Order: sequence, then structure tokens, then C-alpha cells
Amino acid sequence: MERQFEEGVTLDRFLMDTLADHPEATGTFVNLCQSIALAGKMISSRVNRAGLAGMLGATGEVNIQGEFVQKLDEYANETFKRSLEHRGHTCMVVSEEEESPVLVGERWHSGRYVVTVDPLDGSSNIDCNATIGTIFGVFRRRSSEGSPAELTDVLRTGRDLVAAGYVIYGSGTVLVLGSASGVNGFTLDPTVGEFFLSHPRIRIPEGKIYSCNEAYSPRWAEGVNRFVQRAKERGFRARYIGSLVADFHRTLVKGGVFLYPADDRSPKGKLRLLYEGFPLAFLAEKAGGAATDGRGAILDRLPEELHERTPLFIGDESLVNEVTDLNRS
Ligand code: AHG
Ligand code: MN
Ligand code: MN
Repeated sequence: MERQFEEGVTLDRFLMDTLADHPEATGTFVNLCQSIALAGKMISSRVNRAGLAGMLGATGEVNIQGEFVQKLDEYANETFKRSLEHRGHTCMVVSEEEESPVLVGERWHSGRYVVTVDPLDGSSNIDCNATIGTIFGVFRRRSSEGSPAELTDVLRTGRDLVAAGYVIYGSGTVLVLGSASGVNGFTLDPTVGEFFLSHPRIRIPEGKIYSCNEAYSPRWAEGVNRFVQRAKERGFRARYIGSLVADFHRTLVKGGVFLYPADDRSPKGKLRLLYEGFPLAFLAEKAGGAATDGRGAILDRLPEELHERTPLFIGDESLVNEVTDLNRS
């Protein structure tokens, strides 16, 4: 693919260029993105050395999700929260690893942004060195600056998101950031410690790939099984990594559709709405794709509690619409 962009555009340069497009901007959002990028670099470094730094395996604790906390889950959570403190841009963090919202830093009254985060997605893959990542969403607070952030700052529809993205720790470390400027990917050059623009203006291509954990198909709705059967008859390939962030990144770059349907064991779905479904649905729609919960658009959902779960059908718009119609039928 011919190079569509100028060599050597750093994340900072890209953010400053977008700042120029928004004269009313104060630079606080740029500052927030830089904090998230720093957290991504630190987590990437630790993930890459996990096997050497005694960071594999579990802590022995169980989190609010009822899942065993991996050492890297805990490290990623602490690192992410710490990177958002003391910068004055964030007033509250909602994390998969925290039962309640976290008011960050001593200046949290003033921060204008609320951040949701899955500090490390795909934890079950850590010890077998498969791709994992950090997923985040950004809301502009509703409550007035100067007062403590409130639950209504985060229990709101995904349509209120102002940005979302992830840092994926795979063969390389890539930050994918979605905002009003579209979806752009930045690859970390570890020799200089900088993210460089590598995937400008990402759009989901057509792709004959379906991605799901077929072990659960006996418990899926009939319509979902019919979709998978049709995909096989149409010559689709199956790909499933078992890390949502990795399965989504492949879908964003190569097309196709990712399915995590509800089933009789998890009638509301397994994935979490606030820090998995919403951020990835924001990116999918910004990149010309779609995301539903098997009934309606994920971004239209209004969460009632922080760790609410959801089914997820995400990727190429026509495929998502087809499987959603079949799931509803
Ligand atoms: P997390 O590691 O943050 O708990 O997320 C795990 C999720 C997601 O990454 C992945 O798509 C899914 O669990 C895999 O579930 P199965 O093992 O049931 O396929
Ligand atoms: Mn996750
Ligand atoms: Mn996680």
C-alpha cells in the first residue's frame, strides 16, 4: 500500500495539528491523550518483559467481575490511573478493576474529563504471550467543574463519548485513537519511545472473516448460528484470538465481523458496556462500521450500572446488520 502520509508524524505533532483545527480548544484534551500514551508505553514495556519481571500469573485476588486478577491487570490499572492524576484534565476514572469510580489526584474537582478503562483486556492470554491491550473511553463531564464528579458523568449513552481508543500490545505496540478527527493509528518506535502515525484515517474494509468462540454456539440464538452457517457457505475465514482488543483490531484493519452473543449462561452477554462495548463501538462507527448488542446500536444504550454487560456484534456495517436482523428474528 503506497504511503499516504508524511513520514515521522509523531502523536504529539498530530494532536497539535488537530488542536489548530479547534480554535476554542484549550489543549486539555491533547494533554489527556498524551497521558494515555504514556501509560501505554509503560504498560507495553512491562508486558514485553513480564516473563522476566515476575509479572506473569495471578495476584491471588478476585475482582468485582469475579475474575482472578492477573499481576499485569493490577499493574496496568495502577499505571493508567497514575498517568491521569496530577495533570488536572481528568476528574474520574471508571475501571474494570475498580468496584467504584475513582476520583483521581488532588485536583480531581477541576478535571473536565471522565475516563473509562479496561486496563488490560485479554488477561487470560497473558501467560501464553498472545496479544492483549488497554481499552479506554472519554466523556466530557456533565457536572460543574470544581465540584466532585458524579455517577451521571459516566452512566450515560455512548453517543456522549468525545473520544475512545486502545493500545494493543502485539508484534508491535499500536495506539488507535478515535475522535472528531476520525480513527488514526500510531505505532510505538521503542528505540526512541515515540508513537508515530502509521494508520491514518482508518476505515473498515470489506472482509470475509467471522470471529466468535464457536464452543458456545450450542447456547446461541438460532439466528446467530444461521449467520455463521451462511458465512461458512460464503467461504468466510474464521479467526478468534480470545482477546477482544486483538479480534477488534484485526476487524478494523482487515474487515469482517466479531460476535460475542448472549447465551443462556450469560443472558446479558459477557463483555462490559462502559469500557469494552462503548469505546470499540465508537471506533467502529467512526471508521464506517457498526456495533449492536443484537437488538440495537451499542452507542444508544444507557447503562444503569458501571459494570453492566452486553452482547457485542461489531465490524463491517452490512455484516453487523445482517447478523443483528437474524438475531432478532
Ligand atoms: P478481560 O481480559 O478484560 O476480562 O476481557 C476478556 C474478554 C475479551 O478480551 C475476550 O473477547 C473474551 O473475554 C474472551 O472470552 P472467552 O474466553 O469466553 O472466549
Ligand atoms: Mn476486557
Ligand atoms: Mn481486563
